[in-house]
Amino acid sequence: MSRLELRHVRKAFGGLDVLADISLNVGAGEFVSILGPSGAGKSTLFQLLTGAEHGEGEMLFDGAPLDDHGRHFAFMPQRDALMPWRRILDNATLGLEVQGVKRKAARARVAPLFAEFGLAGFERHFPAQLSGGMRQRAALLRTVVQERDMLLLDEPFGALDALTRTAMQRWLEQMWREHHWTALLITHDVREAVFLSDCIYVLSARPARVLREIPVPLPRPRDPTGAAALEAEILDILLNPQPSKGNDHD
Ligand SMILES: Nc1ncnc2c1ncn2[C@@H]1O[C@H](COP(=O)(O)OP(=O)(O)OP(=O)(O)O)[C@@H](O)[C@H]1O
Ligand SMILES: [Mg+2]
Repeated sequence: MSRLELRHVRKAFGGLDVLADISLNVGAGEFVSILGPSGAGKSTLFQLLTGAEHGEGEMLFDGAPLDDHGRHFAFMPQRDALMPWRRILDNATLGLEVQGVKRKAARARVAPLFAEFGLAGFERHFPAQLSGGMRQRAALLRTVVQERDMLLLDEPFGALDALTRTAMQRWLEQMWREHHWTALLITHDVREAVFLSDCIYVLSARPARVLREIPVPLPRPRDPTGAAALEAEILDILLNPQPSKGNDHD
C-alpha cells in the first residue's frame, strides 16, 4: 500500500488554474521526485500536503483521507528558512519547539546530529557565517529531526552552485539509504531527480498535470554516468510534452 496517494488533485487560485490533475504514489521508504518547469505548481502541491492550502481531489495517507498534515510531513520549504538571528543550534531546534518540545530538550536531541550533517563545530554560528551548502544541511537537519512519516523537500539544492549541489545530492542519497526515510522531492534538475529517485513524476507547465511516471531502476549507490540515457529521455519529455502516458491511477 502507498504511504501517500494523490488522486486527481486540482487547485485553482481565484481564476488561475495551477494544478490540473495530479495523481501520484509514494511507497514506504521510497524516494520520489516531482520534476517540472518553473511556475508549474509544484510548491503549490506541497501547500496542499502541508494543509496550508486546500484543493480538490483525493489525498490519502496509509489509505485513509489525509487530515493530520502536521503529523505526517516534515517540510523543508523552497527558500532557505533559517532565521538569521538564531544560532544554527537554535535554528535546528525550531521544528521541535513548534511541536512543544522545550528548548533544552530540543537542543539535546539535535546536538548529536551535527557531526552527521557535517556541521560539527558550527552549532554557535549564525546562518550568515555558513556556506550555502551548510545552511541547506542545517535546514534539512531541522526538518528530519521532527521524525515525521515523510520528508517533503522543495528544491533543497536549487540555489547552490553546481559542484556543491552534486556533493549535496550524493550526501542526501547516502543519508536516505542509511535512515530509510520516505521522501518526496521537488526539483527542476533532471540529473538530480534521476540520481536520487526510485520514481519520477514529470509534470507539465501550469496548470500542472502528470505527463509521465518514470521508474528509475538503476542500482544504488547510483553511478552518475549510468544515468545519461534516462536523463536524455526525460529531457525530451519536458521539451516535447505529449499527453499523459503511464499515469492511469483511478
Ligand atoms: N497563494 C497564492 N495565491 C495566488 N497564486 C498563487 C499562490 N501560490 C502560488 N500561486 C501561483 O501558482 C502558480 C504556481 O506557483 P508554484 O510556486 O506552485 O510554482 P512552482 O512549480 O513551485 O515554481 P518554481 O519551480 O519556480 O518554484 C504561479 O503562477 C503562482 O503565481
Ligand atoms: Mg516552487
